[in-house]
Amino acid sequence: MAEQRFKTLHFISLLLLCILSFQISESNQTSEFCYEGESAGCRSPTTSKNLIKGGIVVNAHHQEVADVYIEDGIIVLVQCKIKVGDDVIVIDATRKYVMPGGIDPHTHLGMEFMGSETIDDCFRDQAAALAGGTTMHIDFALPINGILSAGFEAYTKKARMACMDYGLHMAVTKWDEVVSRDMEILVKEKGINSFKFFLAYKGSFMINDELLLKGFKKCKTLGVVPTVHAENGDAVAERQKRIFDLGITGLEGHGLSRLPILEGEATSRAIRLASFVNVPLYVVHVMSIDAMEEIAKAQKSGQEVVGEAVVSGLVLDDYALWDPDFTTAAKYVMSPPIREAGHGKALQAALSIGILKLVGTDHCTFNSAQKALDIDDFRKILNGVNGIEERKHLIWDTMVESGQIFAIDYVRVTSTECARVFNIYPRKGAILAVSDADIIILNPNASFKILSSSHHSRSDINVYKGRKGKGNVEVTIVGGKVVWENGELKVEPDSGRYIEIPPFGHLFSSIGKADVAYLSSLHAPVH
Ligand code: URP
Ligand code: ZN
Ligand code: ZN
Repeated sequence: MAEQRFKTLHFISLLLLCILSFQISESNQTSEFCYEGESAGCRSPTTSKNLIKGGIVVNAHHQEVADVYIEDGIIVLVQCKIKVGDDVIVIDATRKYVMPGGIDPHTHLGMEFMGSETIDDCFRDQAAALAGGTTMHIDFALPINGILSAGFEAYTKKARMACMDYGLHMAVTKWDEVVSRDMEILVKEKGINSFKFFLAYKGSFMINDELLLKGFKKCKTLGVVPTVHAENGDAVAERQKRIFDLGITGLEGHGLSRLPILEGEATSRAIRLASFVNVPLYVVHVMSIDAMEEIAKAQKSGQEVVGEAVVSGLVLDDYALWDPDFTTAAKYVMSPPIREAGHGKALQAALSIGILKLVGTDHCTFNSAQKALDIDDFRKILNGVNGIEERKHLIWDTMVESGQIFAIDYVRVTSTECARVFNIYPRKGAILAVSDADIIILNPNASFKILSSSHHSRSDINVYKGRKGKGNVEVTIVGGKVVWENGELKVEPDSGRYIEIPPFGHLFSSIGKADVAYLSSLHAPVH
């Protein structure tokens, strides 16, 4: 049975390889990479036994010098001086960090958005991620005409070439019996454990408070995590019109209409409604001090609120958004917007003390031609920036190299916390016996430089172009296979798996107790 499946998959992947190699040869502006079995230069496929020797093994709770022994894609032993036979491939990691592969909690791969489609398909984006040390991501699947099951099926097709493991969040954009039932099916049968509610993008994804409450209640019953894009979409739309009517049509209008106060308001509203329902809350892409402070306040009161930073919000500021050259400014458009200098530093501090718990990318890439489609109206510029390949390097340099966090914290915020919040720990996010062998080797003494000529995306835009720093991901191992080494990428279509995520993760551990406390606090004369 398994052999039959393997043969079928092998045939399909060969077929897809032909299609893909044609597509990739069309691109001449980005670095190329090699497919297993296709090129003579490729290393042989699966090596079922590996030993990573002498590195500093870093987990979120502890680091030590140790060897890591891998068999058939699973970590079997983490121990000093492991002895192995000749059939084992040994990778030397002396004086380097051996860490769990990065997990990006927030991506949009191959997404149709604002009337366009992102420039890279899933496979290409995932390959780029692997080159940057990220070995799993959780993507946002969008419903089709509000139908969740259709969105899920469409994503499954889109990701059939996946070269790394991925999970899914599903967005909820309308409410009726079918949506409610589909949520249940997706959780119980399809491995979805989080739903996204957009409080912005009026006229497309945005939902109102009534729907948000219904969604929160359903998430609570199912034991899954509600996530919010927190901006007040009504106020954004009102201010966009005012700014546009004043004659401001260029990109300065983007930041002027999507103010931090509107991010703060929506964050606070979502937090209060989550508290009202007594359900955990996950706030995606926290971009402003205003939103971060609302999260800090809620956490202080004991509420289970997870704040997600994204790399663009941490390391960029809005300087380029004010560039008079439209093409330059358009590259940096995302929502909520990249804020003025000061917000990023405050978000870094919040990450270092645990108010913001983890870092994603919100990776959603368009090229400059796509970004220039609606040059006369800032409201229509495609929202989204890159980051899936750059996140691990930028966070190491910005947070660890600068002394704001330690290597163990780095593992926590770029990998382990995502695995814990979304209930896939310790299969992912750890270097422990039983974890999947998704591992990176990072050399803290080497440096990196980001160029749009050498990144692995098809896009000609890279918002981090020219950035350099310390700490280089030299090796990426996914499912026990070396896929990135010596600056060479060796990926195999259809080698990634959809990871089904179970409900009732650790965020739900105190929810029941709070409900009991609430009920026993009621003094109404109820019989
Ligand atoms: O600008 C962004 N963030 N694009 C992706 C969609 C979203 O809001 O997350
Ligand atoms: Zn969003
Ligand atoms: Zn997003």
